[in-house]
Amino acid sequence: MRANATRAASFSKSVRPPVSDPIPGGLPAPAPRILAVANQKGGVGKTTTAINLGTALAAVGERVLIVDLDPQGNASTGLGVHRRGGQKSTYHVLMGEASLRNVIVDSGIPRLHCAPSTMDLLGAELELANIDRKTYRLADAIAQLCRENDPERSYTYVLVDCPPSLNLLTINSLSAADAILVPLQCEFFALEGLSQLIKTVERVKTNLNPRLTIQGVVLTMFDRRNNLSEQVAEDVRSVLGDKVYQTVIPRNVRISEAPSHGKPVLLYDNACVGSQAYIRLASEIIRRERELRAA
Ligand SMILES: Nc1ncnc2c1ncn2[C@@H]1O[C@H](COP(=O)(O)OP(=O)(O)O)[C@@H](O)[C@H]1O
Ligand SMILES: [Mg+2]
Repeated sequence: MRANATRAASFSKSVRPPVSDPIPGGLPAPAPRILAVANQKGGVGKTTTAINLGTALAAVGERVLIVDLDPQGNASTGLGVHRRGGQKSTYHVLMGEASLRNVIVDSGIPRLHCAPSTMDLLGAELELANIDRKTYRLADAIAQLCRENDPERSYTYVLVDCPPSLNLLTINSLSAADAILVPLQCEFFALEGLSQLIKTVERVKTNLNPRLTIQGVVLTMFDRRNNLSEQVAEDVRSVLGDKVYQTVIPRNVRISEAPSHGKPVLLYDNACVGSQAYIRLASEIIRRERELRAA
């Protein structure tokens, strides 16, 4: 963690100064934008995107919280956050046994915090079934965090890393979110399952969270040497139009090596094509957010 902090300090010097540090004078900070990084398929790049987009947003001065809502906890470990038995986690937040504020930890990267998960989350689906406001547990926890108005725990972006399923954990994430961000792997069956995901978004919008929109779809693991990647990208763009970000995340070995070092790829190898792609994605998302706010 200390090594992370040292690298992070030099990393943060190499990027623009913060543009959105805590509001002086004790005024309530504006609500964060909450983005659910979701796709019920596993292995499509959700966690990788949550970690590296979060780091890229923090690098340009945003204050970012990554909420790990997957029992596997890859977002937590990929950020170098150790998961210990007995530790309070997002499970305890959903069960009302801890507030978000109690579980948030510093990632060692400036302006980037994490609410880690533990394996307890595996039981959450069943345990939530009989709990009041079971689909709004995360939304309520984030709202409470905002009401606390603690400058140390105020964020401009909250990214929720969802599990590979359309279960109650993902529904909690969609009920809390302003928008969904969908990583789509450039493979033959890329679009398979997407209609189910979009139907779920529509259902959540109608029944639970009218403000939910689709922020965008990001093509991941794009392999330039492979014609199939090109073909898939073309097909996805013809179906989803400008919902698909211009930025494409290439398949890049540095991206896959970084988590075993407990580091986002932007700290592991700032110059590699994977890092550069996530930096471009962050600016595209910030631009889209500005357009959405202006609309
Ligand atoms: N752009 C990429 N290039 C190479 N490997 C990647 C890339 N994105 C993700 N991976 C690797 O693919 C695997 C699945 O990614 P992950 O983000 O964990 O998917 P998900 O969270 O959707 O299950 C991980 O081992 C990850 O390191
Ligand atoms: Mg994951």
